[in-house]
Amino acid sequence: MNPASKSLKSHLKVLLRRAAIQKRVVAVARQISRDFRGERVHLIGVLKGACIFLSDLIREIDLDTSIDFMAVASYGKGKQSSGQVRLYKDLDTSIEGLNVILVEDILDTGLTLSYLCRVLQQRKPKALRIAALLDKPSRRVQNIKADYVGFTIPNEFVVGYGLDYDEHYRNLKDVCVLTLPAE
Ligand code: IMP
Repeated sequence: MNPASKSLKSHLKVLLRRAAIQKRVVAVARQISRDFRGERVHLIGVLKGACIFLSDLIREIDLDTSIDFMAVASYGKGKQSSGQVRLYKDLDTSIEGLNVILVEDILDTGLTLSYLCRVLQQRKPKALRIAALLDKPSRRVQNIKADYVGFTIPNEFVVGYGLDYDEHYRNLKDVCVLTLPAE
């Protein structure tokens, strides 16, 4: 490990271990498979944070599936949300008549998912559900709930398993709380 990556890791505390995440992802996938038995589900991953959750989740879903992605940003370079959501990448194909599951890494203030749900509802999906790996309900400013939640977590800034701080840490296998020296 070089000195830079060592110092990057020294402010991390494991919150959710890889094995617990894997187990929960399987449980969420089973629930989705039960809820949509005999039907196709169209997973929409919210880039970039949801990519790892989505790739594990879809492999555990026992249904006909398809994938698309949207890219949004509500966070700048630090830990604070800008409060404004910007769409950087739209879907490649229509979702009209499809069972859509919006797959997100974390439901925090709810601004991102409320914005995306508004946009997607207008496109007339058959169903629109939300699957969020993590839920921080204490931070919510928009009245929105996920249909499938991996874990409810306290108000801490977390990284790993796709979640980043300034583009770092997405590759951690565990979800960890990040504290920075100035805090
Ligand atoms: P919301 O719009 O406030 O619900 O925020 C959703 C987005 O903010 C997520 O998709 C993440 O990209 C980012 N975010 C919120 N909380 C955290 C966190 O604890 N760690 C890393 N990213 C976070």
